Amino acid sequence: MSIFYHENTKTFHLTNGLISYVMKVLPNGALGQLYFGQAVRDRESFDHLLESCSRSMATCTFEGDRCFSLEHCRQEYPVYGTGDYRHPAVELCQSNGSRITDFVYQSYTVMPGKPKLDGLPATYCEADSEAETLIVHLKDELLGVRLDLAYTLFAGRPVLTRSARLENHGRQPLHLTAAMSLSLDLPDKDYEFIHFSGAWGRECWMKVRHLEQGIQSVESTRGHSSHNHNPFIMIRRPGASEDSGEVIGFSLVYSGNFLAQVEVDNWDVSRVMLGINPFGFDWRLAPGEAFQTPEAVMVYSNQGMGDMSRTFHNLYRTRLARGEWRDKARPVLINNWEATYFDFTEDKLVSIAEAARNDGVELFVLDDGWFGARSNDYAGLGDWEANLERLPGGISRLAQRIEALGMKFGLWFEPEMVNKDSDLYRAHPDWILQTPGRRASHGRNQFVLDFSRPEVVDHIYDMMAKILTEAKVSYIKWDMNRSISEAYSATLPADRQGEVCHRYILGVYALYERLNTNFPHILFESCASGGARFDPGILYYAPQGWASDDSDAVERLKIQYGTSFCYPISSIGAHVSAVPNHQIQRQTPLATRGNVACFGAFGYELDLNRLTPEERKEVRRQIAFVKEYREVLQFGDFYRLLSPFDGNFTAWMSVSPDKKTALVGWYKVLNEVNAPFHRVKLQGLDPDLCYTVNGGSQHFGDELMRIGMATSDHISEEADIGHCSSFDFDSHIYVLKA
Ligand code: DGJ
Repeated sequence: MSIFYHENTKTFHLTNGLISYVMKVLPNGALGQLYFGQAVRDRESFDHLLESCSRSMATCTFEGDRCFSLEHCRQEYPVYGTGDYRHPAVELCQSNGSRITDFVYQSYTVMPGKPKLDGLPATYCEADSEAETLIVHLKDELLGVRLDLAYTLFAGRPVLTRSARLENHGRQPLHLTAAMSLSLDLPDKDYEFIHFSGAWGRECWMKVRHLEQGIQSVESTRGHSSHNHNPFIMIRRPGASEDSGEVIGFSLVYSGNFLAQVEVDNWDVSRVMLGINPFGFDWRLAPGEAFQTPEAVMVYSNQGMGDMSRTFHNLYRTRLARGEWRDKARPVLINNWEATYFDFTEDKLVSIAEAARNDGVELFVLDDGWFGARSNDYAGLGDWEANLERLPGGISRLAQRIEALGMKFGLWFEPEMVNKDSDLYRAHPDWILQTPGRRASHGRNQFVLDFSRPEVVDHIYDMMAKILTEAKVSYIKWDMNRSISEAYSATLPADRQGEVCHRYILGVYALYERLNTNFPHILFESCASGGARFDPGILYYAPQGWASDDSDAVERLKIQYGTSFCYPISSIGAHVSAVPNHQIQRQTPLATRGNVACFGAFGYELDLNRLTPEERKEVRRQIAFVKEYREVLQFGDFYRLLSPFDGNFTAWMSVSPDKKTALVGWYKVLNEVNAPFHRVKLQGLDPDLCYTVNGGSQHFGDELMRIGMATSDHISEEADIGHCSSFDFDSHIYVLKA
C-alpha cells in the first residue's frame, strides 16, 4: 500500500495494488482529478491525462492562455466562480456578498491508519497497518480559510474514503452553504446510474437509468436519510452484471439530509457528488471555527456488483459497525408489535414470550406502548417511564420474568419524538422543532424534539439511562417515525437556523454514543418506520436495523435484495409475521416467510400461541435451522443470483469463508402452469470441492457454478392430469456441504 507524491509533477498516486487514485495540483493551485479505477503502476507524471485545448466560449484562467479552463478540467473539490459552471463541492458566502472562493494547494500529510472524525460516524482501523491516510492542505488566502481533503486507502480492500474539513482562520464570519464529502470527475458518461428508492413499506427498490447530459440525483430533504432514497448510489458500465464488469459504489456515512448527484457536462465528463444536501444548509463558520463533513466511501470493482457489495459488507460489518455485538451471531428474537399492537398486559406478554422460548427464541422485545399514557399513538411519547396500569411491576419485573424464562429482554424507544399529550411536552413546549408564530405539522400525531439542543438530548438520556440501570435490558429498538418539517430551533440565532438539520443528527449521534459507551452489552437495532434511516451512519452505533415495516415475504424479496447492495446481511432485520400479512393482506406459506427472513437478523413478529401444532413444528424447525447456520447466513459471503426486479424468481446465497458450507435461497412469486425447467448458476463455491445438496445428490463446485443447480419443481404424475405439486409463493433453501 502506498501513497506516492511526485514533487516535480505535483502528482499524488494512492494505490494498494487493487485500485489507483491519481490527482495533481493544477496550474492555478487547485487539485485536479486524473484517474480512479483498477490499479496501475506508478510513474512520475500522469500529465498526459490532463488534456486541454482552446474551446470557443471557454472561460480561461490565465490571460494569454486560451487552453487552461476550469470548465474543462477534472477536479477534486471544485468551486464556483473561477470558470467552472458545474455544481461546486463547496460554497462559502462572505460578508461582502461574494460566494467566490479559490483554494490553492499548500502541502500534504501522510499518516498511517485513519484519524477519527470528531462527533461523526466513520469507518475505522484496528491497527495502523490496515490503512494509510493522505490529507491535502489547501487554502483560500483572501479569506484565510483552510481546506483539508482527507483520503484513506485500506490495505487489501478496493476502498477509498473521503471527507473534507474547513477551518476559518480569517477575520470575517462566513456561511458555508455547500460542503460535499466527495466530488469525483470521471472522463466519460458511459455508465448506468443506479439508486435505491421507495417509500414506506417498499424501501430500497433498485432503479436503473443511463447517464445523460444534465443532472441526475437522489436526495433527502426530510431530516433523515429516508425511505424515499438511500444515501448510496452505483455507477456501472453497460453490461456489467453481478459477477462481471466495472462498477463504483458511493456511500455516505450520514443519517441526515443528503445529496447524491451525477452531473454530466456537455463534453460528457461525469461529476459525482455525495454529501450533506446543500438544500436548506447554511452553516455559520465564525473565525476560529471548523466544519467537518461526513465521510463518503467509494468502492471500485471490475468484477461486478456482487463483488462491490461484498467489499461494502465486509468493511461495514467489521470496520464501521462497532461494539460487543459486531462479530456475534444475532439472537433469534420475537417482537410483540404485530402480535398485540397497543393491546397487551404483562401476562399476555409473558405468554407470548413463553411460547417463543419453548420453540427456541432467545430474545423477547417489547415494542411501543409500555410507557407514559401510551394506549394509542396520540399520547405518551417523551415520557420514558413504565405505564404502571398496564405493567404494574414496571419494566424491571417484566424483564425479570422474561429472564426467568431463560430469555433476554429488549425494549423499544422512540427517543427523538414527543406527543403533545405527554408530561414532557407540558413541561417543555419549546423543545420541539417549530417556526415561531406558525403551525407545527405532525406526523402520526407526534412532534420532533429539538435534538440540536444538548439539554434536550441530556434529558432524554437521563430518562433512558434510568430504565436501563433499573431493569435488565439486553436490546434496544430505537425507532423514529416521522420526518422533520419545520426545521427551526428556538435557541439558535437567526443566522444559524440553516444548521438545525445537521445539528439534529449530531444530537442523535451523541445520544447513541453515550448509550453505546455506558451500556456496551446492549444490542441496538435501528428503525425508522422500517427503513427510513437505514444508512451507514446509524450502522456505526446499531449493528442491525429493521429494514421495512412490510414483513410480507414476497415484498421482502425486493426490499432485502435492494438493501443487500450496500449493507451486510447481519444488519438487515427480517422477521416472520402472521398471515394474512398486516401490510398487504397476502397469504404466504410459513416456510417461505422463514426462508426469506433467515437471510437477515432473524426473528418473529406474531403470537406463536395462535399457530396450529403443525405450524409450531415448522417454527421450531426454522429456529433450529437458523441457529445451526446463522454464522453463514449472517456473516458469510453473500451472492445475488436472480433478481426480484427482473422476474418471477429470486435467488441468493451465502457461503462460509472456508467455502465448505453454502446456503441457497430460491423463491418463486407466482406458480407457473406447465413450466419450463429451471436451473440457477451458483457462485462463490470452490470449483474443486464436491458438495452434497440437501444431504442428497453430489456435485462439484465447478458444475454448480458453470452448469447450474436444478431448481425445477418436481412434477408428479398427477401434474399430468391437472394437479400441481407446487404453489404460489413457493421457496426452497438448499444446504450445500462440501
Ligand atoms: C414503526 C416500526 O417500524 C414498527 O416496527 C413499530 O415499532 C411501530 N413503529 C411502533 O409504533
